[in-house]
Amino acid sequence: MNHDIAHIGLSEQGHLRVEWAARRMPVLGVIRKRFSEEQPLEGYRIGACMHVTSETANLMLTLVAGGAEVTLCASNPLSTQDDVAAALVDAGISVYARRGEDADTFYEHINAVLDTDPHLIFDDGADMTTVLHRERVDQEILAGMEETTTGVIRLKAMADEGVLRFPVVAVNDSDTKHLFDNRHGTGQSSLDGILRAANILFAGRKVVVAGFGDCGWGIATRAKGLGADVIVTEVDPIRALAAAMEGHRVMTGLEAAAEGDVFITATGNIRVFRAEHFALMKDNAIVANAGHFDVELDLRALDEMSESRRVLRDNLEEFTLPNGNRVLVVAEGRLVNLGAAEGHPADVMDLSFSDQAIAAEWIVKNADTLEPRVYRLPDELDREVARLKLEAMSGSLEMLTDEQAAYLGSWQHGT
Ligand code: NAI
Repeated sequence: MNHDIAHIGLSEQGHLRVEWAARRMPVLGVIRKRFSEEQPLEGYRIGACMHVTSETANLMLTLVAGGAEVTLCASNPLSTQDDVAAALVDAGISVYARRGEDADTFYEHINAVLDTDPHLIFDDGADMTTVLHRERVDQEILAGMEETTTGVIRLKAMADEGVLRFPVVAVNDSDTKHLFDNRHGTGQSSLDGILRAANILFAGRKVVVAGFGDCGWGIATRAKGLGADVIVTEVDPIRALAAAMEGHRVMTGLEAAAEGDVFITATGNIRVFRAEHFALMKDNAIVANAGHFDVELDLRALDEMSESRRVLRDNLEEFTLPNGNRVLVVAEGRLVNLGAAEGHPADVMDLSFSDQAIAAEWIVKNADTLEPRVYRLPDELDREVARLKLEAMSGSLEMLTDEQAAYLGSWQHGT
């Protein structure tokens, strides 16, 4: 079996991490048991480009239990848990991922996975899909799965241009994914990353959240819960209004730059905080990014305008500006929750990765009828994942009476 990982000797520690995550992923556990009995993915090769974490490991093991042959590489150079990569190799899965790998290695690893000629691909940010559309244009792929908002935006742009070559399930668009993973997962784990890197007290601090989508909602809500005074910047009037009605102050980036103590981007957009913002920031301002790509903070501009830079702590780099003010960048501006912490807790990835596993089964069953466009997971499967999770959390669902069902299905009732 081929692989490229940091050190196989880390596997024992990795197995413990994977086991601890599995305990908090009960829905995926149910699917894994069913997959091992029914073998819905038998004979399929899967190539995955995802964050190599303990939760992803459990997804990979579920796909293998379903009969698939799986090869995995990293979707971000800084998010790989080397011990988890070792545990997967020890479990017989080919992994190409080393934490801190450079850009060339990152793409070599994507190509190594594609060299296995997968039928299905699992992508997180659409980097693997992009390689297939730019460089490996003759390679046949049955279908794909996409995990995140940024990847779905890229795929929809490909579909709109008529260049998308195979059907893809936008797993991110399932309600059981974006309403929970993006909100609760990113909310908690982004603050976790900043806490681990800087160990600051959030209470009483002014926290600027750029973007009030699902991720921004989660970050702002959790920061407020820790006692922070939250400021939101938004370009969409509805989302900006929603932030204002949640009790946050809403202002422009430049206004916020002069006020904030901590800045967190979650827009999926480029150069959200730039030279003109850094120049206005207070001494010891902390900046971090929770969006998929490391393009939301213009760190090249920060570097150019700084007189010096030094690493102050793990995942915390200090840039000193000519006016003496210091700006502290967390995790090189990459996904803060994966770069400086351990990503989303398994409890919430249980939902996202159950969606992924079920999407693979659905796409294999329906491959003949699907066109090269972006699909949502059918609503009944989305709801089934929610039902199983609620059950695992000991919640019980109210049932409609026959009379209520008839009432909701009729237009003839009135006052
Ligand atoms: P979303 O589309 O729900 O929200 C993004 C928001 O940013 C929108 O409301 C948009 O109007 C706003 N925005 C765009 N440009 C802006 C600008 N220049 N200034 C201020 N606001 C701006 O997207 P979602 O789901 O919240 O995802 C955001 C990013 O986070 C994406 O890149 C996504 O892939 C990534 N993501 C990261 C995760 C993590 O683990 N850190 C988990 C899930 C998603």
